[in-house]
Amino acid sequence: MMRVMITESVAEMDRAAARIIEERIRGCPGVVLGLPTGRTPSGMYREVARLHAGEGLDFSNVTTFNVDELCGLPPGDPRSFSQFMRRHLFDHVNIPAGNIHVPDGSAGNLVEACRSYEEAIEKAGGIDLLVLGIGLNGHIGFNEPGTELGSVTHVVRLSETTRERLSGFTTLDAAPDRGITMGIKTIMRARMILLLACGRVKARILRQALCGPVTPDCPASILQIHPVLTVIADRNAWSECAASPGDPCLGESDRAALS
Ligand code: PGA
Repeated sequence: MMRVMITESVAEMDRAAARIIEERIRGCPGVVLGLPTGRTPSGMYREVARLHAGEGLDFSNVTTFNVDELCGLPPGDPRSFSQFMRRHLFDHVNIPAGNIHVPDGSAGNLVEACRSYEEAIEKAGGIDLLVLGIGLNGHIGFNEPGTELGSVTHVVRLSETTRERLSGFTTLDAAPDRGITMGIKTIMRARMILLLACGRVKARILRQALCGPVTPDCPASILQIHPVLTVIADRNAWSECAASPGDPCLGESDRAALS
């Protein structure tokens, strides 16, 4: 079932998303989270860190698995997703280092790194709550258009669109051309998914993902058939999804959210 929350601002989206993470941790201190990087979740992480500092949100039993990582960067490279996560979240909460998992993009044997990542997720009992952003081309994680819906953690060649969006690289030539990502099947196995989108730049692809056909051409469209999907979008990202509660692409819950 899809539940939609539309927010007036990005800050409100950040707070709403952080509150969902908080609820899951308070309800189950040993929760397993799946986490994204990117511009979209940055404010959510700031809010989560604030909940830790100001409201005692305890990460000591939380386990995390990041959705993706760039390949070929030396460990500790500030542009890696693992360093992004340290800066935005892990350095600000009391999560034990051993509970943090990010795919190893610098592994000598990337295929083996993918296999062991998938195994680690399984060993942790699967992901309880997986947070995702959506790429301009509909990717989720680094699952670019055309990715098999049955894929598990794998190495991908990044599209030009995705490489252009990666910040911190001086030129496109310098941006890594490969990444490791949870597969679509790995993502769909999560018990609950939280999809975040903000900004008018995401409006077209969000509509395609939520209201268009379920197709590998738009990997995020598969989320329509996840049993527990929550979408939090700001008004700008939502703008092409629904002009009014009567929009044909809306389900009952969306209409309720709009009314
Ligand atoms: P963004 O990336 O949050 O930086 O827009 C989203 C994504 O590619 O998943």
